[in-house]
Amino acid sequence: MVEINFVGLGLGVALTLLAVSLHYARGTGWAPTGDISQEVLERRARTVPETDFPEPMNRSIGGGGVAAGAVAGGEEGAELEEGGDDAEPSPADIPEDEIEYFDVEFVKQGETIELANNRTVLEQGEDNGWDLPYACREGQCVSCAGQITSGGNSEDYVVHDNQQMLDDTELDEGYTLTCVAYPRADFTIETGEAP
Ligand code: FES
Repeated sequence: MVEINFVGLGLGVALTLLAVSLHYARGTGWAPTGDISQEVLERRARTVPETDFPEPMNRSIGGGGVAAGAVAGGEEGAELEEGGDDAEPSPADIPEDEIEYFDVEFVKQGETIELANNRTVLEQGEDNGWDLPYACREGQCVSCAGQITSGGNSEDYVVHDNQQMLDDTELDEGYTLTCVAYPRADFTIETGEAP
C-alpha cells in the first residue's frame, strides 16, 4: 500500500509555487528603447563640417556611403551639387583634341622644350630626364618652386591648380610651384628657385 507523505508533498508544492513566483518577479525594470540609429546618424551628420570637395560621398559616415546619402538628402544634397558646379576645372582634364603646346626654356638645364598645357611643368621636365626638386606634389610646400624670368606675374604663363603657398607678391615676382603649374604661354624658368 502506498503511503502518501503529506508533509513532503506540501513542501514540494510550496517550493514549486515559490519558484514560479520568483520567475515572474525577476527583472530590473529595464525595457528596450526604440531604434535610435537614425537619430544618431542625423546628429552625427550635423556635426560633420562641409569640405571643399564636391563629391556626394564627402559626408560619408563610417564609410557607409548609402546611409550618408540618405541622411544628407534634401537641401544638403542640393548644396553639394552647387559646390560641384563652382569647382574650377583642372587643366589636367583638357581633352586630347584641345591640348596646346608652348616653348619653355629651362635655364639651368640649358634646353628649350615643348610642354603640353594638360600636364605640369614638373612632370614634363621629369619626362625629359631631369631630376627636378619636389616633395608633396600637391601645391602645399615650396620644394618644387621655380622662378619664371620672362617678366611679370607667373600666372601670366602658367595656371596653378590649387597652389596654397605663394602669395600675390611672390607670384608677381614670377615664382611658381612647378608640381601644380600648367603652361599657358611660352616662358623661361629657373627651376629650384624658391622665394
Ligand atoms: S612639391 Fe610641394 S608644392 Fe610642389
